[in-house]
Amino acid sequence: MLAATTSVLVGAQADTPGTAFDQNVTGFVTNNCAGCHNERLKTAGLALTNYHDTASLLRDRAIWEKAIARVRAGEMPPKGLPRPKPEEITATTNWIEEQFASADEHPDPGHLTAHRLNRAEYNNTVRDLLAVRFKPAADFPADDSGFGFDNIGDALSVSPVLMEKYLAAAKRIAITAIPLALTALNPRASAIRPNMAATRSAWNSSTLSIFRPKAITICKQPFQAAKRLTASSSLSTASRSGPAMF
Ligand code: HEC
Repeated sequence: MLAATTSVLVGAQADTPGTAFDQNVTGFVTNNCAGCHNERLKTAGLALTNYHDTASLLRDRAIWEKAIARVRAGEMPPKGLPRPKPEEITATTNWIEEQFASADEHPDPGHLTAHRLNRAEYNNTVRDLLAVRFKPAADFPADDSGFGFDNIGDALSVSPVLMEKYLAAAKRIAITAIPLALTALNPRASAIRPNMAATRSAWNSSTLSIFRPKAITICKQPFQAAKRLTASSSLSTASRSGPAMF
């Protein structure tokens, strides 16, 4: 009966032969534990034959730590049954402990959802970064809550409505944060300050209107220099002043 159970178990595990786990754990469990701690009998609520890789071992670490302790103490397999050789006990228990140790060196922090700001966090962040006093998130949809909190990353979703609100808020924030007076002083400020103009072409021409006078001045310089030269020379002709650029 024990032999039959054992051979079935060996068969079930044959799909992952030769792994370090098989070499160090599967054989040991099959020979010494599987007769009682198999899926059918589950003696003491324990089915040690359910483990097929290191990951499964790490998931049930408490169970395996107990198993190591019982085996080292000579309590498992129970007295009266053939004992595993001491070197087998050492090899298997040490190997399992090494897996625990290396898992501790590289802990798996688990899954982390990209965390969006909730409304209060958004308002405060924009205020702190850009000194904008109004509350840009005031008309955002209410934040989803999880476990009674509205700052749980897993619960905070981004709906299409919220996305639209983000875009509108970004525009308002930029308009407020970059005052018009500043754009008069520095054309570059106006390039990043959204225009209230309704259409793209209106926005383009209003932005261009800031750069154009400067561009014209720069382009005209050689022509004006040439004009001055020709005016002072006897070869003066109107055609020398060059084509009208703008
Ligand atoms: C002949 C049957 C038999 C074999 C073979 C056997 N055990 Fe057990 N095991 C038991 C019984 C019965 C108990 C419950 C009584 C006790 O805790 O001593 C138990 C309990 C345990 C427990 C404690 C479970 C708990 O939750 O407290 C662990 C761990 C354990 N065994 C590990 C092993 C390991 C590892 C092997 C193989 C090296 C093994 N056993 C082999 C019968 C067996």
